[in-house]
Amino acid sequence: MNLVRTSLIAACAIAAPLAMAQNTGKLKVGLMLPYTGTYAALGTAIENGFRLYVTEQGGKIGGREIEYVKVDDESDPSKATDNVNKLVKRDHVDVLVGSVHSGVAMAMAKVAKDTNTLMIVPNAGADAVTGSMCAPNIFRSSFTNWQPAYAMGEVAVKKGAKRAVTITHKYAAGDESVRGFREAFEKGGGQVMKDLSVPFPSVEFQALLTEIAALKPDVVYTFFAGGAAVKFVKDYAAAGLKKSIPLYGAGFLTDGTLDAQGADAADLLTTLHYADSLNTARDNAFRLAYAKTYKLQPDVYAVQGYDAAQILGIGTNAVKGDLNKKAEFAAAVEKTKIDSPRGPFMLSKSHNPVQDIYLRQVVGKENKMLSVASKALADPARGCKM
Ligand code: PHB
Repeated sequence: MNLVRTSLIAACAIAAPLAMAQNTGKLKVGLMLPYTGTYAALGTAIENGFRLYVTEQGGKIGGREIEYVKVDDESDPSKATDNVNKLVKRDHVDVLVGSVHSGVAMAMAKVAKDTNTLMIVPNAGADAVTGSMCAPNIFRSSFTNWQPAYAMGEVAVKKGAKRAVTITHKYAAGDESVRGFREAFEKGGGQVMKDLSVPFPSVEFQALLTEIAALKPDVVYTFFAGGAAVKFVKDYAAAGLKKSIPLYGAGFLTDGTLDAQGADAADLLTTLHYADSLNTARDNAFRLAYAKTYKLQPDVYAVQGYDAAQILGIGTNAVKGDLNKKAEFAAAVEKTKIDSPRGPFMLSKSHNPVQDIYLRQVVGKENKMLSVASKALADPARGCKM
């Protein structure tokens, strides 16, 4: 009996330094992002932003060197559970960073919650991730689908619109974005006449554009992003609608897309938590560093990737690299103002940014900030019990 106990104690003595070694060795970051498909450019911008912050810290976070393990999730929710399980169970990543697509992020959040793996969402707006699925180990550096949409509903009311048609990809992000717009628009006395959609990632818009022309709403509200946003803006103009019916969007419609959209995007109004012309010292420094490193202008996705790395840095520094200390990690992140290029923000209790939503207009190759449409807008975090 004693012998058994002694050998157990000996085994623990050996195990303890091993566990410690795991927390002082390389910090494994599992980047689960789209590198192909309609959201491919978004995934790359997020990775660029993340790496830029890490490089600015000398390649170390919380004293630990970073090792990246990358998965192309293809924005395909049906492959997401297998993909995330590989990162967690095969590669033993310390933190999951992903994804862009709401359906993929929800599958990731379920595994993160079940396995108590640290997760930082650098884009996907799925309301549930910081709503009914919220968890102490899950953080978001981006937005909820509700946030920019709700702000645009208020803008549409102020502009005097009474009747709107919505059009989006049919999946969680599009549905939630439309719901957020409707909530504010109808609260202000407007009416959504019809919700139109195409399945993700289809870009066959023609029949729906004909329907919009027949319905003659005061405004069209839309959620499209990446390659689909480029095509939608071009098709809307080609159908002759741009001249007669204002097109309002969650800002993804014109972010990272303006080179490809050209004149067809001119003057479009959108709402988002970032703009190209903030002209603050913090944003200017970020934009310069990003442009120097990647020979590209940053967009909202780059900012969210950068801030995902900042969140990891704040938490990891607080626990001196020991990511087993999840409660201390969360407490540090919760009380810190994040010095984002978008402007400083704090996370809500459900771990989603409480942030200003800007009204922007496309001028040349920029989403120019016109005003703050909604100050310190907090997602309602419906269903979050934390
Ligand atoms: C989402 O699926 O949540 C999503 C995708 C692309 C965006 C924004 C949100 O630009």
